[in-house]
Amino acid sequence: MLRRDFLKYSAALGAALALPPWSRAALAAEPPPLPVPELLTRDSQNRLRLTVQAGHTRFGGKAAATWGYNGSLSGPALKLRRGETVTVAIHNQLAEETTLHWHGLEVPGEVDGGPQGIIPPGGTRTVTFTVDQRAATCWFHPHLHGKTGRQVAMGLAGLVLVEDTEIRQLPLPGRWGIDDVPVIVQDRRFSADGQIDYQLDAMTAAVGWFGDTLLTNGAIYPRHAAPRGWLRLRLLNGCNARSLNFATSDRRPLYVIASDGGLLAEPVKLEALPMLTGERFEVLVNVSDGRPFDLLTLPVSQMGMTLAPFDKPHPVMRIQPVGVGSSGALPDTLTTLPALPSLEGLTERRLQLSMDPMLDMVGMQLLRQKYGDRAMAGMEHGGMNHGSMGNMHHGDGAFDFHNANKINDKAFDMQQPMFAAERGKPERWVISGEGDMMLHPFHIHGTQFRILRENGQAPAAHRAGWKDTVRVEGGVSEVLVKFNHPAPKEHAYMAHCHLLEHEDTGMMLGFTV
Ligand code: C2O
Ligand code: CU
Ligand code: CU
Repeated sequence: MLRRDFLKYSAALGAALALPPWSRAALAAEPPPLPVPELLTRDSQNRLRLTVQAGHTRFGGKAAATWGYNGSLSGPALKLRRGETVTVAIHNQLAEETTLHWHGLEVPGEVDGGPQGIIPPGGTRTVTFTVDQRAATCWFHPHLHGKTGRQVAMGLAGLVLVEDTEIRQLPLPGRWGIDDVPVIVQDRRFSADGQIDYQLDAMTAAVGWFGDTLLTNGAIYPRHAAPRGWLRLRLLNGCNARSLNFATSDRRPLYVIASDGGLLAEPVKLEALPMLTGERFEVLVNVSDGRPFDLLTLPVSQMGMTLAPFDKPHPVMRIQPVGVGSSGALPDTLTTLPALPSLEGLTERRLQLSMDPMLDMVGMQLLRQKYGDRAMAGMEHGGMNHGSMGNMHHGDGAFDFHNANKINDKAFDMQQPMFAAERGKPERWVISGEGDMMLHPFHIHGTQFRILRENGQAPAAHRAGWKDTVRVEGGVSEVLVKFNHPAPKEHAYMAHCHLLEHEDTGMMLGFTV
């Protein structure tokens, strides 16, 4: 982020902190402690067990119906060691189908949990795989085609922590929930009766489902008592559609140490850290001065996401340093990233992301009808002028949006993988979003890749390491991918926009390895 923008935002900051716009009632009460997902332990047969279940959760006043893994909301964290073979038994107690996808894990298509990996209601699916990648913070979530957005919105998400010998030799803070803290951030919208208010319609198919309430590990503006010293935060943007932009209320820097697929070469110091949906970054923050502060998300320029309360810096969580004794430090160097191989002669694949012009039009119209012109604020939406459409003659809701988002002019077809990649061989994928100005966080299964060009530019330092998601926003991005495991036709890997409502309405393709 540009420094002048940051200064502009921080002017609004004092006011925002004195009087959080989202809830005065919450202010009166002491912020709740940060819920910390438990580390899942093995059963007697050395298996990990995940039960997908329904329950209820209180957010403020009323109890909402929510879903979770081994509980009523979100899920535990799975700690896996590189080289080990793990078996996970997934039991579906929901009244509907689901799948469980390992986002960021390099595992064979058969166990990847994409849309074909269906677990029927009452059914169990057991997957076994060998962990074969660098230490990283990954996650798992449902991937049922057309329903991913809703199932994630209901609460289904959990973390996977991959560990290896390299990271264990670094002096990073490592006490779970104390100085090594997961921070899963998601926005939600609630109906008048307190229920999660999810809709997949023409408006959300166009701009994504977004909320006005921010949850951090499932709680509203929680607090964490951190030992003085270095604090490690494992950030996950688990929102369906909303980009976040992390910063601190007193402008203390964030030192980024890892991206989606693992360690950076060296820490990258930032005042603000933008994060797309699905992305993870690990940051270290120095809290040795003992002063409390807030982790915030700053306003972002994304259609629909500038509405209050996100038009101002918005608190994510309170951090209150206590006592002494963080277990870690900030190393000067972290790992060696292999040099990028020559791009000469590599297979090149071109993926053109596009939105049906009718969806673009109808979606914007509905957004404006529902939220007014403020919803468009902060956007320079190129191409069409959505403001001068006049009255719609297209029957608004009658428009079928289900296959209106496409890649290479095709909406997702589960029966027809789009191409076959060759195992173990690097490929260059060129992903273009030139057809619209929407933000598409593009994600690829079965790989951790390197970004060669991100929306027309060289990747920022903290995005130049291992990644599984790249930003495509009106421009062209290029990534260098390699798949080490097979993915047959029946269990093809997916590549898709991680704005879940774009994914659910067709902006996804299957490919084999
Ligand atoms: Cu996190 Cu294919 O998704
Ligand atoms: Cu994934
Ligand atoms: Cu998209």
